[in-house]
Amino acid sequence: MFVFAHISDTHIGQDRGDGGSRARERTERVLRVLDGLPGELDAVILTGDITDRGTPEEYEEAAKLLDGSRHTPLHCPGNHDARGPYRAALLGGDPADASPVDQLHVLPGATFAMCDSSVPGRGEGYLGDATLAWLDDALAGARKDRPAFVCFHHPPLPLHGQYVDPIRQFGEDRLAAVVGRHPHVAALLCGHSHTPAVTTFAGLPLVAAPGVVSSLRMPWEGEEDGPLDYALPPMLTYHILDDEGRLTSHFRAVP
Ligand SMILES: [Fe+2]
Ligand SMILES: [Fe+2]
Repeated sequence: MFVFAHISDTHIGQDRGDGGSRARERTERVLRVLDGLPGELDAVILTGDITDRGTPEEYEEAAKLLDGSRHTPLHCPGNHDARGPYRAALLGGDPADASPVDQLHVLPGATFAMCDSSVPGRGEGYLGDATLAWLDDALAGARKDRPAFVCFHHPPLPLHGQYVDPIRQFGEDRLAAVVGRHPHVAALLCGHSHTPAVTTFAGLPLVAAPGVVSSLRMPWEGEEDGPLDYALPPMLTYHILDDEGRLTSHFRAVP
């Protein structure tokens, strides 16, 4: 059994007239819950929109928060992130390197391919050819008896929210072809939706994590005040992959 936590969309630096304290405090609350768990987790992942505007100052704050946590999250960028400052602050890399931030993490119980679905300067997502070729190679080189999770920021299909669907991940048939070649892929995990959502993609479970900074209302919930709800508490997800290869996900509000 492999148990891990999934958080998304911390948007560190988001300033709603509070200088960014609200986003920081919500992220701290979530990390405190994870830090205070009596048991160990096998991993923690963070699926993008780590910062709000992608500035070096926001990444400095994000790095401080994440480094201060008991579980260092595995992460990937979202549309609000910026590759150069992300690389510099979170990975100790070259701030001038604007290539996709793709990272493979081989843990004792699972492999995580953290893919960069961001398109610089755009809200929507796309896995570029270089990222898909990297993913194909990474999955081909991974042990077949160890489950693999393919993670990115943008959901590769509509989730039926008017706000996020137009800026979802496009070009998804190419992703489906890659994961279809690797039967040890257990699930696909993403963020961006700011609402927990479970569906299937290419015959695999696809789970979108809720947002830490805000929640997205569905069209039938009313959107008079805009689609984003800032009053609902931040949420996190626990995923369990059991020995039969079945994924179960639990969603937890953090008051
Ligand atoms: Fe977001
Ligand atoms: Fe996003």
